[in-house]
Parts: sequence; C-alpha cells; structure tokens
Amino acid sequence: MVFERSAALLFCIVAVFQITVASPPTFNIDYKHDCFRKDGEVFRYISGSIHYNRIPRVYWKDRLLKMYMAGLNAIQTYIPWNFHELDPGHYDFSGDRDVTHFLQLAQDLGLLVILRPGPYICGEWDMGGLPAWLLKNKDVVLRSSDPDYIAAVDKWMGKLLPLIKPFLYQNGGPVITVQVENEYGSYFACDYNYLRHLTSLFRSHLGNEVVLFTTDGAGVSYLKCGSLQGLYATVDFGPGSNVTAAFSAQRYAEPHGPLVNSEFYTGWLDHWGEKHSLVSTAAIVKSLNEMLSLGANVNMYMFIGGTNFGYWNGANTKYAPQPTSYDYDAPLTEAGDLTDKYFAIRDVIKMYRKIPQGPVLPSTPKYAYGSVKMSQLTTITKAADILSFGGPVKTMYPLTFIELNQKFGYVLYRTTLPVDCSKPTPLSSPMNGVHDRAYVSMNGVASGILERNKVITTNITGKAGDQLDVLVENMGRINYGKEINDFKGLVSNLTLASQELRDWEVFSLSIDEAITEGLLWEGNPSLPFRSSILSPPAFYTGSFIIPDGIPDLPQDTYILFPGWKKGQVWINGFNLGRYWPDRGPQVTLFVPANILSTSASNNVTVLELEGAPCNPGPCTVEFTTMAVLNATVTSLSDQTRQLFRKEDLL
Ligand SMILES: *[C@@H]1O[C@H](CO)[C@@H](O)[C@H](O)[C@H]1NC(C)=O
Ligand SMILES: *[C@@H]1O[C@H](CO)[C@@H](O)[C@H](O)[C@H]1NC(C)=O
Ligand SMILES: *[C@@H]1O[C@H](CO)[C@@H](O)[C@H](O)[C@H]1NC(C)=O
Ligand SMILES: *[C@@H]1O[C@H](CO)[C@@H](O)[C@H](O)[C@H]1NC(C)=O
Ligand SMILES: *[C@@H]1O[C@H](CO)[C@@H](O)[C@H](O)[C@H]1NC(C)=O
Repeated sequence: MVFERSAALLFCIVAVFQITVASPPTFNIDYKHDCFRKDGEVFRYISGSIHYNRIPRVYWKDRLLKMYMAGLNAIQTYIPWNFHELDPGHYDFSGDRDVTHFLQLAQDLGLLVILRPGPYICGEWDMGGLPAWLLKNKDVVLRSSDPDYIAAVDKWMGKLLPLIKPFLYQNGGPVITVQVENEYGSYFACDYNYLRHLTSLFRSHLGNEVVLFTTDGAGVSYLKCGSLQGLYATVDFGPGSNVTAAFSAQRYAEPHGPLVNSEFYTGWLDHWGEKHSLVSTAAIVKSLNEMLSLGANVNMYMFIGGTNFGYWNGANTKYAPQPTSYDYDAPLTEAGDLTDKYFAIRDVIKMYRKIPQGPVLPSTPKYAYGSVKMSQLTTITKAADILSFGGPVKTMYPLTFIELNQKFGYVLYRTTLPVDCSKPTPLSSPMNGVHDRAYVSMNGVASGILERNKVITTNITGKAGDQLDVLVENMGRINYGKEINDFKGLVSNLTLASQELRDWEVFSLSIDEAITEGLLWEGNPSLPFRSSILSPPAFYTGSFIIPDGIPDLPQDTYILFPGWKKGQVWINGFNLGRYWPDRGPQVTLFVPANILSTSASNNVTVLELEGAPCNPGPCTVEFTTMAVLNATVTSLSDQTRQLFRKEDLL
C-alpha cells in the first residue's frame, strides 16, 4: 500500500516535471515551409509600430488595447539609445522611459513584440537614436567598426540586452524577434565586420534561440550591404508597390523562410515647410490584402505615430527638420484617436484571423480650455547669465554644442562689433555653418535671422563695441544618410564684411532647468514697445485654471499660437516641443492631459524666437479640441519629395 502510493506520487511528479521541461515556449523559422513557427505551430504576425518614447506612459495601455482590438497579434517598437543613455554611463529607464514596463503591458494585453533596439534606429528621431555625445570624438565613423563607436555600443548593449533577455518568447516573455541595426544597406559604410560584431554581441547577451533579423529597402542593392549570414533578411515597402517584385527582392537574400514586410507605410513623415503627407486608405487596404493573401508577415509603420516632445525630432537632408507631431497619418492619430483608416484595416485583418470581440475603446475626449493671456517676461539677451549655469565660456572662435557638452536646445554666442558699421554690413556664415537657425540681435534689438542652407547672410548696423548676440537653435539632428555626424551651434566662423569675428563669449543655456526651477520669474522687466516685425528671442508666460464641476477633467487638448511665429513651449515645465505656424504644415501641438493640473493653476511658458503678437496685443495662446497638421505651406523646400522614397530624404 505504502509502496504503491509513493510510486504513484513519484509517477505524478515525474509526469508534471516532464510536461514543464518538455515544452518550453519556442519561436523559430521553418525554412522548409517558408513560415515562422510558434510553439511548433505555423505562425504569421500582423503587427503595428508604436514607439513608447513618443507616447506618455499613462497612455501606453490605451494605445496598445486599441491595437489589440484592431486584430493585431504583435507590435513593433524601436529602442532609442539616446533616450536612455543621456550621458555616457548615465542610464534612465524610469517613467516614460520604462521600456520593460511597456513590454510587460504588451504581453499582459495579449500582444507579441518585434523589438528593434538599434543601436541605430533612424525613425525620424534625433540622430537616428544615436547619442550626440558620440560626437565628442570629432572624427568618429558612426555605424561602423570604429573602435570608439564599438566600445560605446558594447557598453550600452551590455546594459540594455540583459534587461530584455527575460522578455524573450523563449523565456516566457512577448519578444518573438529582435532586429539588428536598421536599414544598414542604405548606409555608405557597408561594413560587414560591424554587422558581424553586432550579431555576436546580440547572441552573447540574448542566446542562440532568438530570431535575429535585418530590415532593408525592397531592392537587391539595399540587401547587398544590409543582410548577413545568421540574420534573417526582411524588407520594407509602402502601399502601391508591386508586392510580388518587392518580395522577390527579399527572396534574393532569403530563398526560403517567411515573407516579411517590416515597415508597411500607413502614412508618411512630414518636414517643416513641406506639404503634410497623406496616404489613402484605399491604397493601404489594397496592398495589405495582397500581402496577407500571400501569407506574408506584415508590420504597419506606424500604427500610431505619437509626438516628438521636447527636442526629439530628427531631420533629413538637404537639412529639413521634422515637426513636433509624428501623427504620420497613421490609423490611430497622434492623440490615439480612431480613424476610418483604423476600421478599414481592421476589416481587412478580419478576413485572415479571428479578431477580438467587444467594443473598441473610444477616442479620448478633448477639452477646449480657451484663450490664455500671455505676458512678456524677459529676453534671452537679458537672461543669459541666469540661463547659463556655468557662466559664459570665453573663446577666440566659436565652439560647437558638443564642445560645450550641450546636446539640445539653444546656445547664445556673444561678441562686440570690431568696427563701426554705419551702413548695413553683411554678417555671414560663408561655410554654411549655422546649425541650424540663428536669431541675431544688436544691443538687444532683433536684426535678422540666419538659417542653414537657406539664409547665410543678414545685414547689421551698429558702432564698434556694440553687443552682437547670435542665439543658435539646434532644430534636430539628421537621422538618415551619411550626414548623421551633425554638429550643432556655430560650426564655422561668422564674418562681418570679410572679417572673421573673434573673441566670443558662449553661453550654454539650461532653459528647461531654469523653467522647472522657476528662475525666469525673478523680477525681470518687460520689453519696451517696438513696432518692428522681428523682436528678440524672449520668454512669455500665462496661466489657466481647469474649471470646476466638469467631470473627467483634465482632458487632452491642442495648443494653438495665433499670430506667433516660431518657438518652444512648456506647460508646467514639460517641454511640449517646437511650434512654427509661420512655416507649417503643423499648427497645433498635442497637449496630453497628464501634464495638466486640477489643483493648481497651469503655467504656460513660451520662448518666442522671432516675434510675439504681444506688442501691441492681443497676445494669447489658445486651447482647442481640433488638431491642425495640414496648413498650406509656402514652398520653401528646394526639392520635392515623393511618398515612401527614401532616396528623396538624402
Ligand atoms: C510586378 O512584378 C512582377 C515581378 O517582377 C512582374 O512580373 C509583374 O508584371 C509586375 N506587375 C505589375 C502590375 O507591374
Ligand atoms: C545688405 O545691404 C546691401 C546694401 O547696403 C544690400 O545691397 C543688400 O541687398 C542687403 N542684403 C541683405 C541680405 O539684406
Ligand atoms: C575660425 O577661423 C580660425 C582662423 O582662420 C580657424 O583656426 C578656426 O578653426 C575657425 N573656427 C571654426 C569653428 O571653423
Ligand atoms: C504654476 O506656478 C505657480 C506660481 O509659481 C505655482 O504656484 C503653481 O504650483 C504652478 N502650477 C503647477 C501645476 O505646477
Ligand atoms: C486639412 O484637413 C481638414 C480635415 O481633414 C480639411 O477639412 C482641410 O481642408 C485641410 N486643409 C488643407 C489646407 O488642406
């Protein structure tokens, strides 16, 4: 009896043990049947891109649930290195940067994850996700076997990949595949040793089971430098492409295995001064249907674009920065709202897989808080000492942002006129070295603007000894192509007539910190009235109270700048991004509810660079319920760009 019972018990324990060890989760490629296999079963993903770094953390769940309800079984995200390693060895994975929390949420909601940890990501993100501090070595060859670059990559991946490892599908997590680099075949370096190094680095941290892959343009020329033995080669292309031809490019690199479009474009990116990109739902539905009927795996880029808050937007060449909104004309808007495109895509997916039952979460409500009266605070010229925590650096010739250890924002370059300029005299950047836009003032009075590739000369007048201030704005680093070593500030000398200007005082400005710490409130006199078109870069402030007695406030809203030209805006110290209605096409900025307060008055701080409508008034900003991203632009661009053509971004 006793013997029998314990034998039975032993049998049970062995059986349970066998079940748990016999079938750990697996995800791999079946080359024989041209498909993925998940736990041994044929598997195909229908995925959408969402970048956690472009959405406030409180909204991650809302957006992911909407993606799940559209019928997706996976999501795709980048991990931008510069969002996490702000200075060498200083990491931030908290709050809006808590990427493992994001992965956990996706898993909890029933979504798998396709992870793209770079190190380079492109993504219309500052410097393609590479940290600007890499440029401290002036001659660094990014995205190559350059030893300085590799050392930094090794250190970063040594931090990041161990955090990711528990989230791999094999380890019980949601991550089914991991991308190595990004569209490397579009980069000039074509350094196979670099790709080989990344492959063994990823393998050493993540193990041998995980599917590693690459993504490149759907053309043999891209796949030549972008693909590598041991990395599964996938392609990207937009609606309207010849799907058969595009996938036969993938077959050039991968004669067998699943067909994968890693970036199927649901919309397209924008640039300041260029028409807002729109992509028709009909074209998306047609191509999506075609790909799915071939059994292909598809990731829709973007499913929700979100926002380039703060200074995070990138730029293309000829220098053309992207706006603050990354709406992308995606199926979910920048604010996470449902669109006709969303439901049309859902209808296509329905034909191929069972989609979840039940109602789709509604769009989040918006509230029009109305007009907020703004008043002048101080100018950059007057506040330079307060804003520059370390004080000015004296230098014969201009220093770049990175030489000053500044990554983003604004630097003030100050000198005095060496000679009388009683007649208008050209102040020039003969080497086109204003990166990216400079606001020139004489003795605190605005006198002109210089802009990279567009305006290299402005006239000034003044007397010998007069104070010349040149405030230089970093408008976002180039994120694509061979010019990603994008130094900011005055990267070459300015000349007055033909004389090189010397003996500068350079103020590295900590504007974000000064606003958070309330330093701009300290009794600065307001500006004298001037009727000229330009006014010097200056701060303005206003506040508003969220009304009582209305349920569910605060709600999201959009801020509008009637009569304002160009600048940066903060609400309660949160840097919302750049506004530039004067150039367009973006006119309103998305304001997420989580930065608003119901218990205190909400503080709006504006740095207007060119001319506020305050003098004389009325001078207000306005909160409205409607996004406007498609204003008409006066074509300032010297090139016309086609949708989905990455060559047009070079
Ligand atoms: C698409 O490409 C395939 C393969 O290159 C070609 O045979 C076919 O004619 C193309 N279809 C169209 C509509 O151009
Ligand atoms: C600068 O002034 C000169 C005359 O003094 C004029 O010819 C020239 O057009 C002006 N340049 C600009 C950029 O305004
Ligand atoms: C400015 O000119 C000086 C002398 O011509 C040169 O040594 C220096 O490198 C230049 N500075 C920049 C930032 O180009
Ligand atoms: C706005 O500024 C006022 C005055 O400094 C302060 O009392 C208030 O707490 C601030 N509001 C928020 C939401 O931080
Ligand atoms: C912008 O989009 C709105 C809404 O779709 C449309 O009504 C309006 O005509 C568009 N404006 C321009 C200038 O294209």
